Amino acid sequence: MKLRASQAVEVLRAAGEPTRLRILALLAREELAVLELCGVLDQSQPRVSRHLKLLAEAGLVERFPDGAWVFYRLTGGGQGGGLIREVLDRIDPADLVFARDAERLHAVFAERASVASDYFARNAARWDEIRSLYIAEGDVEDAILQAAGPGPFKRLVDLGSGTGRMLTLLGPRAGAALGLDLSQQMLNIARNHVSEAGLKVCELRHGDIFGTRLPDADADLVVVHQVLHYLTDPAAAVKEAARITAPGGRLIIVDFAPHKLEFLREQHQHRRLGFSDAEIRRWLGEGAFDIRVETLPPARDAGLTVKIWTAAKVADSAAARQRTAA
Ligand SMILES: C[S@@+](CC[C@H](N)C(=O)[O-])C[C@H]1O[C@@H](n2cnc3c(N)ncnc32)[C@H](O)[C@@H]1O
Repeated sequence: MKLRASQAVEVLRAAGEPTRLRILALLAREELAVLELCGVLDQSQPRVSRHLKLLAEAGLVERFPDGAWVFYRLTGGGQGGGLIREVLDRIDPADLVFARDAERLHAVFAERASVASDYFARNAARWDEIRSLYIAEGDVEDAILQAAGPGPFKRLVDLGSGTGRMLTLLGPRAGAALGLDLSQQMLNIARNHVSEAGLKVCELRHGDIFGTRLPDADADLVVVHQVLHYLTDPAAAVKEAARITAPGGRLIIVDFAPHKLEFLREQHQHRRLGFSDAEIRRWLGEGAFDIRVETLPPARDAGLTVKIWTAAKVADSAAARQRTAA
């Protein structure tokens, strides 16, 4: 569908300002919190917020509150969004201002990644205790066993495997299992745990959830347990998990429902305060998966509700191939 001339003028007027164009270019890469944008642009929050308001009014960016933070992303569809993507595509990536913004964004995320990695290195030995602080772990694990089904699974892949709890839980139902994690400290503890459990089928490897280097359709059971809320780009992680899930197989994502516990950002490196069903469904792609959602009642008055999204990949469907490739 074509844009009316008046619509094109409105879209171009909203984008036609240097800072706003920079903001659009940054949001085309990642969804970002206002404060992250302020850091990269080196501009005050009221100024950046004013620009974002204008862009949102023109339908070019979407706003989504997450606790006390607000994240923004480029609007997915719409003709205005299409026009802006075309404009952004035509900008020389070597342009000084845009290249410097991309570098700063990289530095902001590298700093975040290093703080998070220190956190996991420091807390690897205590991770099993921390994990059980706010949730009734036994209930969650029973629900995960149910969600996975009896198996047997040809191959289990656990992304962000931490101390290996998912591997020791589900490994006995798998012919082969792989845990990937960025933290060597976590991997070492997980190696001990799977070996104590006598699980010879489990391999532990250093790897990044954003680029697992695993082939398409690698596993008939893929698990992402309490990892997404730490990540800078949870949508990309879900997409990678979806890619390596075999048609007919299952992807199980366990995380929190949206909540308000801001201290988890400060003290425990959470970036996102939970996820909505709509978000997870959108990231998995309509049609590629049959999705079942389970909500576990909050335990210990801690204000955290655990969700389990069980996504069964539609067997051998063109939709599945198309959606996970998109
Ligand atoms: C909260 S722990 C959860 C571990 C495990 N799934 C569990 O539930 O016990 C999150 C894990 O994700 C890992 N992680 C964080 N970012 C990652 C990335 N980009 N790729 C792979 N692992 C990552 C951390 O090192 C940490 O071990």
